[in-house]
Amino acid sequence: MDTRADQTQSRRSECETTVATAPGKVILFGEHAVVYSRPAIAVPVMDVSARATISPGELGGGVHILAADLPAPDGNPGGHRYRLRDAASDDPLRASVELALDAFLHNGSEPDVLVTITSTIPIARGMGSGAAVATAIVRAVGRHFGHDPQPEGISPLVYEVEKLHHGTPSGIDNTVVAYAQPVFFVRGEGMKRLSVGARLNLVVADTGVVSSTREVVGDVRRRWSADTERYEGLFDEIGAVARLAKSAIERGDPKAVGRLMDENHELLMTLGVSSPELDTLVKAAERAGALGAKMSGAGWGGNMLALVEADRAPTVASALRGAGAASTIFSQIS
Ligand code: PMV
Repeated sequence: MDTRADQTQSRRSECETTVATAPGKVILFGEHAVVYSRPAIAVPVMDVSARATISPGELGGGVHILAADLPAPDGNPGGHRYRLRDAASDDPLRASVELALDAFLHNGSEPDVLVTITSTIPIARGMGSGAAVATAIVRAVGRHFGHDPQPEGISPLVYEVEKLHHGTPSGIDNTVVAYAQPVFFVRGEGMKRLSVGARLNLVVADTGVVSSTREVVGDVRRRWSADTERYEGLFDEIGAVARLAKSAIERGDPKAVGRLMDENHELLMTLGVSSPELDTLVKAAERAGALGAKMSGAGWGGNMLALVEADRAPTVASALRGAGAASTIFSQIS
């Protein structure tokens, strides 16, 4: 029988709201080659983030999802609200909530909660929006039900969601976003934190072109199958650049890091994943005095990065906007 104290407690938990966030990310070195087990480097971008809020729902209503500013799986613009069990089984938001409930609630029941998602991370631009949304959901659900989920528990769940977005993800996005730390990543080897010897000042510029990671990765896969020797050679070269970059970042040598970004971009052009818009922005950054620049993520659109001396950041950012960037973000990595 409920005592008055129990009723007060249960009324209090019914009113509880739990919030969790996760950052965006960029890949500094080694995209694509990382899918083929070469090393890569990624860093969190704390200036943009996804946020999940768990709040009490209607009694007996189950889980509802409110994707406040994300487009719906059917392409409808944001602001839509739906019942978890009405969503397609490959809806990434549904998958994130279900994986988290399985991991943290254990009893197979569906709680009456509203999961509200908001995000400032540009979608389909190589900034880890999908991984960040999933991380925020898993973290928020875990906390709401009395757990304190840690990155090593969150990252494998987010990897499962990433498979819905990408098909065959390397695992770098879920790792860097769940740990929110710079990582030196080799597929299957887990998290290795990368120490940053001297702050890296990055201008991230958006081409404004939406690109599907699944399509670009699939195209590289087809070309790799048709000419494995050539592509394995390119992946080796990209992996070698990533290893040199690791040392340069650790010893705090931004000039060397910049030169290696230029080399990595050339290799990605040869790999066939850059685009005229990305190449234009890379050249504009270099002309404006960046230490180095490259595309970032899957390519054919999305974002590029310019490494700059902090005082050059405004000049480089305005040169990038002048050369067609839809927006720029300044982010410092340490
Ligand atoms: O565009 P993004 O941020 O999803 O990055 C894709 C990175 C790839 O190396 C191309 C794919 C992967 O799974 O690592």
